[in-house]
Amino acid sequence: MHHGQIVETGRYLPDHIVLNSDLENIVDTSDEWIYSRTGIKERRIAVDETVAEMAIKAVNQIIKKRSLDPLTIDLIVTATVTSEYSTPSTSCIIQGAIGADHAFCFDLQAGCSGFVYGLDVVDQFIRTGKVKKALVLGVEKLSQIVNWEDRSTCVLFGDGAGAVLVEATESQDEGILVVQSKSIGESWDKLYSPIRHNDTPFYKQSLEPFIKMDGREVFTFTCTKVPQLIDELMVEVNIKKEKIDVFVLHQANKRIIERIAKQMKVPIEKFYMNMERFGNMSSATIPIALDELNERGNLIGKTIAISGFGAGLTYSAAIIKF
Ligand code: ACO
Repeated sequence: MHHGQIVETGRYLPDHIVLNSDLENIVDTSDEWIYSRTGIKERRIAVDETVAEMAIKAVNQIIKKRSLDPLTIDLIVTATVTSEYSTPSTSCIIQGAIGADHAFCFDLQAGCSGFVYGLDVVDQFIRTGKVKKALVLGVEKLSQIVNWEDRSTCVLFGDGAGAVLVEATESQDEGILVVQSKSIGESWDKLYSPIRHNDTPFYKQSLEPFIKMDGREVFTFTCTKVPQLIDELMVEVNIKKEKIDVFVLHQANKRIIERIAKQMKVPIEKFYMNMERFGNMSSATIPIALDELNERGNLIGKTIAISGFGAGLTYSAAIIKF
């Protein structure tokens, strides 16, 4: 039976860099507070780019690196919480731009878990035989849903796009060995962002269209559920933690990753981290990290555990052999 394998990666990061010291001029904060609480030093802000434009640039990297014929793509799934349009999907805009005329396309919204959810969905389509080649993206322009007057959230986020090409493989020794997605809807209000609406002649918009977060609750949820899920998946595919070469977790916060590493009794050096340079880019963090690893030759031959967690609350994980 076929299952999915990530065969190529791509990313796009806007040029505009915003340092912690720049934020000191916007809200009452300090580089010391931000770095010690989160591990973040700087983030990119998409001053000139839309979500779709960032996505297309990440996908074009894959097309170029792989000499990929877009007509061979069967499916495009974009995970995002910051699409410019309620409809159509960003995936359809990407399809039109690259000429992937044979693909069917939709977006997926699962907060910061979105990219791994996307891999889960695509892997299922590949297992049924409906899809042989798919693009999965995580793309975010969080700067447009952040309240730039709220120091407790605006210092955390950044913009960027990551993409992977997933193909069907029959090899039992490689590919997405296992992937799992989970949700805890009763805690939806721990992390949310209302949509920006216009007032109507009949009623007025009452919700502020900004990210709201109970940081402590999210911290506790993540440090409990993520290690549990990764442990379950390792048992399912009979792989010991010593055999995982790299753990790529959603880059929300360095302290979360340090806590999880300690709980799992895995050396922190095995956890890839780039939040120092990019901040938290929600669904884009994992595919961007995978592309950085790929660029350095650190994917091929490796066994990698990935895990997303965020609004929903949602969490998800996969073990992939490259
Ligand atoms: N600069 C300076 N002071 C600040 C800032 C800031 N940017 N933000 C908050 N503070 C102040 C608060 O006002 C508060 O002051 P007070 O004690 O006088 O009231 C104090 O710092 C402590 O605030 P807390 O919110 O309790 O700070 P905490 O230590 O919990 O750290 C953080 C906040 C980093 C968000 C933490 O809760 C955390 O790591 N949460 C995990 C969730 C997370 O990272 N979410 C990211 C997005 S969600 C996701 O991707 C899944």
